[in-house]
Amino acid sequence: MPYYIEPMQQEDVAEVSQVERRCFSNPWPSSAYRRELRNPNQNYYVVARWRDPRAPTPPPAEERARPALGLLPFVRRADPAATKGPILGFGGMWIMLDEAHITTIGVVPEQRGRSLGEALFVALLDEAQRRRARWVTLEVRVSNAGAQALYEKYGFTRQGVRKRYYSDNGEDAYIMWSPPLTDPATREQYRELRAALGPKLARWHDSLEEADRRIGGQAGRYVGNGE
Ligand SMILES: CC(C)(COP(=O)(O)OP(=O)(O)OC[C@H]1O[C@@H](n2cnc3c(N)ncnc32)[C@H](O)[C@@H]1OP(=O)(O)O)[C@@H](O)C(=O)NCCC(=O)NCCS
Repeated sequence: MPYYIEPMQQEDVAEVSQVERRCFSNPWPSSAYRRELRNPNQNYYVVARWRDPRAPTPPPAEERARPALGLLPFVRRADPAATKGPILGFGGMWIMLDEAHITTIGVVPEQRGRSLGEALFVALLDEAQRRRARWVTLEVRVSNAGAQALYEKYGFTRQGVRKRYYSDNGEDAYIMWSPPLTDPATREQYRELRAALGPKLARWHDSLEEADRRIGGQAGRYVGNGE
């Protein structure tokens, strides 16, 4: 697989901050990520990384984290020994009792529209389900139609507005909520969406691997830095 999703580590924070500045006009200070990562019982943050095709083979299956619901086999435990490729996207949430609150999700501009944002979103939903959350909520700019379409695809609905929520331009936020995660109909809907996600990701993998072959194994230099 040319990329994988893994838990964010303290040593990722500087790079995540760089990626975040390319995604948001009001990025968090890096100290906020460091603080979030110190409390893994309440928080869950992930990064999506390009994996250099010439890097050593990933660890054997038994050393990898078991995917939360067996739905995204490319989500794995952070492997400090692996050669790390550039970060292409990131996401995170807080989990409190039976609610998860997605705090951030972003993909580098040049890799958008290739299902990576959806894969990150699904990784968060998986973990929310694994931690027994019944509901997931988030805020999104009223102008951010693309992100809203992603959330709506997973049955999220607008349940309210936070006036002037964004300090950079005073824009309002929609408050969106998931359907109940424990509901059998939601589980069936998510199962179908994930089944469709696999082939879409595979098509992207194939096109990246083909590009990598064409340029002699150098694609990893170009996927996450805007070149
Ligand atoms: C929002 C974001 C993470 C989506 O990531 P992405 O990798 O481009 O999205 P995907 O390719 O995975 O799209 C998945 C689904 O989202 C929806 N979607 C994503 N971008 C869209 C757009 N520009 N217009 C319409 N729908 C869009 C579609 O429903 C799509 O499903 P489809 O492939 O079946 O059509 C990305 O655009 C981003 O990083 N934006 C800047 C940061 C941001 O706004 N984050 C959200 C804060 S609330």
